[in-house]
Amino acid sequence: MPRFKVPAIPSSAIAPRSLYLNRREFLLSTLIISKRMVTTTDPVSPRETTTTFNNFYEFGTDKADPAKHSKTFKPRPWSVAVEGSCNKPGSYTLEDILKPHAIEERIYRHRCVEGWSIVVPWDGFPLGDLLKRFEPAGDAKFVEFTTVLRPEEMIGQRRRFLSPLSWPYVEGLRIDEAMHPLAILAVGVYGEDLPNQNGAPLRLVVPWKYGFKSIKSIVKIKFVDKQPRTSWERSVPDYYGFYSNVNPGSTNSTFRDQSTERRLGEFFMRKTLPFNGYGDQVAGLYAGMDLRRNF
Ligand code: MTE
Repeated sequence: MPRFKVPAIPSSAIAPRSLYLNRREFLLSTLIISKRMVTTTDPVSPRETTTTFNNFYEFGTDKADPAKHSKTFKPRPWSVAVEGSCNKPGSYTLEDILKPHAIEERIYRHRCVEGWSIVVPWDGFPLGDLLKRFEPAGDAKFVEFTTVLRPEEMIGQRRRFLSPLSWPYVEGLRIDEAMHPLAILAVGVYGEDLPNQNGAPLRLVVPWKYGFKSIKSIVKIKFVDKQPRTSWERSVPDYYGFYSNVNPGSTNSTFRDQSTERRLGEFFMRKTLPFNGYGDQVAGLYAGMDLRRNF
């Protein structure tokens, strides 16, 4: 069972490292982290691991590439285009987006389809709270997300022949998945602004799905009536489905056996849990669906 607890010392009482290091102006340091939601008793992965072992193909396909090649990426100023079936489309600055939301710390397990996992203390707010502000229309059945396209700053977008993906990176959720309280938009990690390699300044975190659903550096949110075609689905349709819920029982839907995983830093493999251990909260979203077919 997940554990929810309020920390003895709330994160809001701890000055972010960025504040006292005073290296540059951090947006997160001006926001108050109001509460903590711990959904796992597993130890949090070291910051060093989470920020140097990354998948962000826009900066290269090697795990070390994103940290190495994203140093000159500029996450400010930033704006997000809101489009499609809603009453309040438009271009919103990052500040507009963040203003009404209290930032919470969410400690989540993160499981990559490649078979590794980490535990990450994200700082963010529920995606659904943001989406509701745009007043989605009745035919908004899905939400499509797009990553920034900046080949001049993203070396992976320039080397098209070395990447399995075409750009920009696109992901999507069904509207009820997007409204689920566990789905968040993160702006920070370990109490600091998101590093570029982790998807600055704004990225999705959907802890019950394989990590590739958690799209980074979002510049567009679109409400649509049809299931979006995601980047990985276009590229490898037999292995990467739209839903991509963590499923240790899947035999043919992904390129490897998904029944075990290696927590980075550990020697022995662990058993992978259905919905990455969040089944109590999210399994109801899929009642009556055949998740082998809808992989
Ligand atoms: N988002 C974009 N735009 N490009 C990517 O290559 N990789 C995905 C996801 N989001 C990816 C992305 C994958 S495969 C994973 S496992 C997670 O980001 C990794 O997030 P992390 O590097 O913060 O751990």
